[in-house]
This record gives sequence, structure tokens and C-alpha cells, in this order.
Amino acid sequence: MSERHRTLVMTGATSGIGAHALAHLVARPGIRALVGARPSSTRPSLEGVDTLPLDLSSLNDVRAFASAVLDRLDGKPIDMLILNAGAQFGNTSGRSADGFELTFAVNHLAHYLLARLLLPAVAEGGRILLTTSGTHDPRVIPSAPKRLDVDGWVHATGSATSAYSASKLCNLLTAEGIAALPETTQRRITCIAYNPGLTGGTGLSRAFPGPIRQTIRALRPVFILLSRVRPELYMNTPDHAGEILAQLADGTVTPPAGRVYASLVRGKLAYPAPSQLAQDPAARDELWRRSAELTGLAIHASTG
Ligand SMILES: NC(=O)c1ccc[n+]([C@@H]2O[C@H](COP(=O)([O-])OP(=O)(O)OC[C@H]3O[C@@H](n4cnc5c(N)ncnc54)[C@H](OP(=O)(O)O)[C@@H]3O)[C@@H](O)[C@H]2O)c1
Repeated sequence: MSERHRTLVMTGATSGIGAHALAHLVARPGIRALVGARPSSTRPSLEGVDTLPLDLSSLNDVRAFASAVLDRLDGKPIDMLILNAGAQFGNTSGRSADGFELTFAVNHLAHYLLARLLLPAVAEGGRILLTTSGTHDPRVIPSAPKRLDVDGWVHATGSATSAYSASKLCNLLTAEGIAALPETTQRRITCIAYNPGLTGGTGLSRAFPGPIRQTIRALRPVFILLSRVRPELYMNTPDHAGEILAQLADGTVTPPAGRVYASLVRGKLAYPAPSQLAQDPAARDELWRRSAELTGLAIHASTG
């Protein structure tokens, strides 16, 4: 009997970890992928992959992408929704088309909106993945958020590192928020926040000067040595991090019941507790409410 065709919708598939995850997924039989990418991106030239325009720095673009995806699906469900795109900037002076600080807008707000718009189309038993980072956690980056500060993040003017950490906390809280929705449980949808861990050789550090990027890459063995005392310094390869993302998305691996946060710890998939703030249901609900407001949605996904 031939395997049923499965549909993947993905952001951040044109480079780094996501490009490897996409290649692993479409190498499986029967997977059709719809990928959102900026016009400037290197489009994936893989069989079974269609690319649609998407710039996450504009909420109108996100709405247009979601509606183009739904048109293409023509009533068929999304089996895997991978929200992996992410950016790290050299400063917080950039603003999105909607006037929000760019890191918060691209990494969090756009993905929150996309998840809300596409959730009704996710298949019963389907999977939603958001790529987060260990840098959401003050135990890893001391300047990572210790309290929710949506107003501060929307209009951030301070450190770019803090803005990145905050946006990755938002990815994690959004995954927790999706997992907590009654319709997610009713439709047996698994929602996972994936931390690929420090991964060299991707485009994420493109805001940094070339020599710094090359030095970081060349120091991989040193980082691996240091990871014996600081596990978060273990440096993964984009292919390994992408392969684990693909396995979490297609159900090859499943987190233990009740766990949303999946993390590569010294290269191995584990389910550690995220930061204290990421475990706070009040922070989760407040971010959900404020994000709904900022994207013009109702609070409940079913009425969005
Ligand atoms: N590398 C690490 O150490 C590390 C650690 C923890 C978490 N992460 C997370 O892993 C994910 C993938 O990052 P990566 O390291 O693989 O970096 P990457 O190679 O730079 O990939 C980032 C992806 O996001 C896309 N993207 C960025 N801005 C976009 C926008 N405005 N609109 C549409 N797409 C946009 C990029 O598209 P273009 O091709 O158009 O640039 C690219 O496909 C990110 O969420 C990142 O935060 C990375």
C-alpha cells in the first residue's frame, strides 16, 4: 500500500538548520512541502518543494502567505508546520513594516500570527514546531528576560543580544500557549519548541563581521571541549541540528507526555526544564493576549 502524502509548511527553510531539515524531510517518501521565503533567498531546488513569497518583517506579508498556503492546500490538512525562521541583528534600531522592533517582529510576532492563521488547517495528530534557543534562559545568557516585558520588546532600543533572547523566550511561550489550547488536545496536535543548541556555520551570525564568523567556526573543537563544564557551548553542525528537527516534525521521535521543550544537549536530544519564566502559565497567557492584540486577532484561536 502506498504511503499517504503528507504536507509540510515551513519557514526558515532556505538556509542553515532549516535547509538541512527540509532536505531530510523531503527525502522521505510522499512529503510535499510549501516553503515561505523572501525574494532574496536561495530557493530550495528540491523535488516536492514549492516556494511562496514570505517576508516575516511584515504582518501583511504573513497574512498573504497564510492565505496562499490555504489556497494551495485546497482543503487538505497540514501534517507538519515548522516555524523555524529566525534572525539576529547587530542592534535594535531596525523596525518592521508595522513599526515593531525587528527581532521581536520577525522571530516572534510573525510566527505567532502564522501559527494562529494556520492552526485550523493542521491535521488531527499533526505537529507544530517552533525553533527556540537556549539563550531564552538567564542560566545561559544572564541578560535573558527574567520577567515578561512586551512593551519593552516591541519598542526595544537596548542590546541586540537581549532582544534575541526575548524573542526566543516568546517562541517557547507561544509553543506552550498552542499546546495548552483545548483544540490542540482535542485534535491530538503535538506542539514542540525546539532548541537546536549552538550551531556553527549557519547564516544566523551574518550581522557579525566575517573574521568573527570564521573564528567561531574554526573554534568548534574548543567549544566542544568547553562544553564539558558548560553544556550550552557544545557546537552542533547544521546537518545534525536539522536532522533532529526533521525527526521531531515527522514523528520519528516524540517528547514525553506534557513536555513542550526539546533541546539538543551536547548533541543529544533531551527534554530539560526551560527557564523559570518559560514555565509560568501567567507569562504564557499574557504574551498570548498581547500578541493577539498586536496582530489584530481575537484571544481564542478558534475565534481568530
Ligand atoms: N545557529 C544557532 O546557533 C542557533 C541556536 C539556537 C537557535 N537557533 C535558531 O534556529 C533557527 C534557524 O537559524 P539558523 O542558525 O539556521 O540561521 P540561518 O541560516 O540564518 O537561517 C535563518 C532562516 O530564517 C529565514 N529568515 C530570516 N529572516 C527572515 C524574514 N524576514 N522573512 C523570512 N525568512 C526569514 C532565513 O531566510 P533567508 O535565506 O532569506 O535569510 C533563513 O532561512 C532560528 O530560529 C534561530 O533563532 C539557531
